[in-house]
Amino acid sequence: MGLSDWSPRYTVNHPVMDEHHHTLFKLVDKLSEAIIEKKENEVIGEILNSLIEYTKMHFAAEEQLMRKANYPGVAQHKAAHDRLVEQVQELQRRHQAGDETVNAEISKFLMTDWLVNHILGMDELYAPYFKAAFPESTKEGEK
Ligand SMILES: [Fe+2]
Repeated sequence: MGLSDWSPRYTVNHPVMDEHHHTLFKLVDKLSEAIIEKKENEVIGEILNSLIEYTKMHFAAEEQLMRKANYPGVAQHKAAHDRLVEQVQELQRRHQAGDETVNAEISKFLMTDWLVNHILGMDELYAPYFKAAFPESTKEGEK
């Protein structure tokens, strides 16, 4: 069991986005574990890099769906994505430069700002719009 398991109650009413979020949770968990276990910096760097790459792909896909669903908060949401990417890239730069204090910050940032505040907070705001825009994607879970 990881520290940050995805659960169906975190659904945003779109199977592909749910799958992306699930993968992001797993990547964050893998990274946190590597940090806790004090794995080599190279190993941590590689996981961090795949997390960033996956996130960029996911954010772009999510923004596209928000536009498709006519979600009125898309501009604000995209700005939040851009800020998260900038912040994580700054942490990555410090990690690459050998900053020894950065690992704890990476874990904290990903767990709180990213998973809890963004995915469980901000992403939930578009969920009703996705439900209305993509009803065929959400039928399955309903009675
Ligand atoms: Fe998002």
